[in-house]
Amino acid sequence: MLQGAAALDRTFGRPPHVRFVDSPLGGIVAEIETAGSRATIALRGAQVLDWVPTGSGRVLWLAPGARLDTGKPVRGGIPVCWPWFGPSGNPALPAHGFVRTRDWAVVEVAANPESARLSFEFEATPETCPSWGGAAVVRLTVITGLSLRLELETHNTATAPLIITEALHSYFRVGDIAAVGIEGLLGLTYIDQMAAGQCFKQQGPVTIDAEVDRLYHDDRGVCTLTDRALARQIRIVKEGSATTVVWNPWADKAARLGDMGVDGFRHMVCVETANVGPSKMQIEPGARHRLAAEINVERL
Ligand code: BG6
Repeated sequence: MLQGAAALDRTFGRPPHVRFVDSPLGGIVAEIETAGSRATIALRGAQVLDWVPTGSGRVLWLAPGARLDTGKPVRGGIPVCWPWFGPSGNPALPAHGFVRTRDWAVVEVAANPESARLSFEFEATPETCPSWGGAAVVRLTVITGLSLRLELETHNTATAPLIITEALHSYFRVGDIAAVGIEGLLGLTYIDQMAAGQCFKQQGPVTIDAEVDRLYHDDRGVCTLTDRALARQIRIVKEGSATTVVWNPWADKAARLGDMGVDGFRHMVCVETANVGPSKMQIEPGARHRLAAEINVERL
């Protein structure tokens, strides 16, 4: 049974570093404060909404007017896309999986003056998602300190192999998208979702001056987002991931999405740690698979 904020706080609060509260956004959140950073994580979707490392500004972008209580996905922070990324192929099932709009259970919290570690679980069964055939326990562990680390572990609890696609759909806040370059993808082949899925080879850093929606395959390296307007560099190191997704909706799509605010597309870019398409994961019965991303920020 899901608990209220006060009961959760009695069990899992770690004063003065971690507390569970009712958020003005309409749901329960963990508020975390250590010497390394401040962070907010919603139980809805186990979604990191905010992360502010000490000495830097806010690193993640969150849509203005975001609410946790509408039943719709919250745009911003780091949504967990699981057990599929993108459209499911079945109109009855939502894009990017079904866990981003569900409440996850808090299972473990530890904190010290420098950092905190919180684990959330969602049990996906034919009861929690009738149109989906699998059974699995998915656990997200978030470690917040001077860096932010997310580990998404899938445990196949069924007797048949489980096939998933997945993403840590990170929305990064940038000063001005025109002054951003993403490095680390040079020479990789990407599927261009803006060009009917044609493949191209990345030349130079990724720069964005139009709608971009790309799946970089065979990418197991480090991505660096250089933001000259905010004079900082965001570094994303990943494990267990072979796809990086780069997405910015630009003006027209942002207007159609309707929740990005005026010029929101100029102040965000998604660089997502993922396994998609040819990198879909097959997890044998009883086996576990882990996808992880670690984010650091440096001043330029
Ligand atoms: C990106 C996809 O990861 O997410 C895009 O590559 C998609 O194709 C975008 O439009 C946003 O998805 P949603 O479901 O959160 O609007």
